[in-house]
Amino acid sequence: MNTIRFLDLRKQYESIKADIDAAIAQTLESCNFIGGPAVLKFEKEFATFQHASHCIGVGNGTDAIEIALGALELEPDAEVIVPANSFIASSEAVRTAGLNVIFCAIDPATGLLDLTDARAKITTKTKVILPVHLYGQSCDMDSIMTLAQEFGLMVVEDCAQAHGAEWRGRRVGTFGICGTFSFYPGKNLGAYGDGGAVVTNDDALAHRIRMIANHGRTEKYNHEFEGRNSRLDALQAAILSAKLKYLESWTNRRAEIAEVYRRELSGIADLTLPVINLGARHVFHLFVVRTSRRDELQSHLKQAGIETGIHYPIALTRLKAYKVTNQTTASDDLNEQIISLPIGEHLSDSEVSRITHEVKCFFGT
Ligand SMILES: Cc1ncc(COP(=O)(O)O)c(C=O)c1O
Repeated sequence: MNTIRFLDLRKQYESIKADIDAAIAQTLESCNFIGGPAVLKFEKEFATFQHASHCIGVGNGTDAIEIALGALELEPDAEVIVPANSFIASSEAVRTAGLNVIFCAIDPATGLLDLTDARAKITTKTKVILPVHLYGQSCDMDSIMTLAQEFGLMVVEDCAQAHGAEWRGRRVGTFGICGTFSFYPGKNLGAYGDGGAVVTNDDALAHRIRMIANHGRTEKYNHEFEGRNSRLDALQAAILSAKLKYLESWTNRRAEIAEVYRRELSGIADLTLPVINLGARHVFHLFVVRTSRRDELQSHLKQAGIETGIHYPIALTRLKAYKVTNQTTASDDLNEQIISLPIGEHLSDSEVSRITHEVKCFFGT
């Protein structure tokens, strides 16, 4: 019995090997490794894909958040509201940008930022809301933008898991002042190393982000301020351009699998399926279900040769890195109950059936 992989980058590479190998060979031939045509081409393609005016390639998705926040030029005591269930990068980048993180609760049905709690966390120091389009599902961007406007806040969208996701037909990352992306290899659009980007419709912000990411300059040795070095390299850009062509079909396959999971696994008493917001195009980076018997289910699936994940086992507020004691985020239960089933274009129909069969067997249905 073969193992069903949670992620299978080898299988993906083999399916598009000719494109990838050609993209790499072309970049090597060009000897343009930093910046140059491959980077400009990908930035243009990804901006078009996201329906944004600008895309600035950066070193990774964490830098994308940090640089975007830095470009807003906020006071050092400014507060940024971050949902308590995310990868640490969402909050880490706020702190490395020299700003204060204020965690807010999440809606257990979707795993996304809870707007009521976000509102309650706003103080006179709050300057930014940082919604995370977690698991590939868009947050309710109408409500977030309304809340932000009411309090004069900026919105920086963490789209690391949401390439191509939409809210009411509009791509995520284009509602707030900017959106940040990760191209970590396992993402829906992943490089073969680290990579990230910021998209924005704001010309001045785009210019500043590009300068920060490239030592505070636009010309070779004319530095207007001290920036840093965080650039998307040309090999990664060429690989991303080659993969971008397949992203829509891969996303459709993810949605197809999600549909099978929803159909086959509905009605199991102790298994809660993810709620999809009306108006959201979910790109299913992850398919996260909940059960009070999470650990047992995970070992049952492991025994049956099915890999799973947990995103995330510990709420950000409970991490040693933060040890937040005075901010209630009420996501602990959730972190103990969630489990991510495999999803992605690497799965065959029979593998998806094997997964639903094993989950049903576990619950005795
Ligand atoms: C929600 C979220 N934000 C930010 C990041 C950071 O991206 P990177 O790993 O490219 O720095 C990730 C990546 O894992 C993520 O999942």
